[in-house]
Amino acid sequence: MDEHTRRDVADLRVRLLAAQKVCVLTGAGMSAESGIPTFRDAQTGLWAKFDPMQLASEAGFRSDPRLVWDWYEHRREGVRRALPNAGHLALAGYARRRPGRLTLITQNVDDLHQRAGNTDALRLHGDILLDRWLERCTHQPSLLDVSSAVPGRPPKCPHCANLVRPGVVWFGEQLPDGVMEAAEQAAFECDVMLVVGTSGAVWPAAGLAQVAREAGAHVAILNPQESAIDGEAHLILRGTAAGVLPGVFAE
Ligand code: APR
Repeated sequence: MDEHTRRDVADLRVRLLAAQKVCVLTGAGMSAESGIPTFRDAQTGLWAKFDPMQLASEAGFRSDPRLVWDWYEHRREGVRRALPNAGHLALAGYARRRPGRLTLITQNVDDLHQRAGNTDALRLHGDILLDRWLERCTHQPSLLDVSSAVPGRPPKCPHCANLVRPGVVWFGEQLPDGVMEAAEQAAFECDVMLVVGTSGAVWPAAGLAQVAREAGAHVAILNPQESAIDGEAHLILRGTAAGVLPGVFAE
């Protein structure tokens, strides 16, 4: 880490220790060092290899349920094999040492924040390990109870053509009820917002840094590359989540 970044990390650490309310927004880069591919990194990103509208939209699922189901099963295997990295652990440590100060907002559908200890993270884009019904049907008591599904790729309703799908938010879909409102509230109230590992390409998540900045918070961005929301930052740290966050949250 160069001297300049070391000074910036020390500055941010002091602000985080003094802050009453801290908001951290994470994206796929947070889990990259745990072996989970990002979406938009050139060559390595999922969207460099696959068509997002074919694999991450309701229309794509309806046109080829098996292709989409198998792709998510493959990603789920990767998530189950992955472990929280030093960045996840640093965030969980800060929350444990300073209860009630941190609001963690994630775009990630993996469960690495939760496994590290941040079980109250606001999940904007759902949970890849969760199953739910594609639609409401008269045979199923709730969208989330898939216990009666007939096994298959994907599993389906024993009485009608309703299908089981992964519990993630696909393109063009609404975010889970109340989660974005809670995230906006936290961004509006925080003293420091730290954005980690997101390209800032997807809204409404990408708008949270602006909400925090306009409300007077100090905004810092950690990313090895430029992001679409760098303009909202008072401080930019060019580094990785596992490489820099332990120093940022060290006490
Ligand atoms: N540490 C920190 N940041 C990293 C690391 C790392 N080790 N590796 C890559 N990055 C950065 C990249 O430079 C990039 O800016 O993480 C960012 C990942 O960007 P995306 O792949 O676009 O992921 P994200 O911003 O989370 O995507 C938002 O888009 O596809 C949808 O629903 C999906 O939640 C996702 C949303």
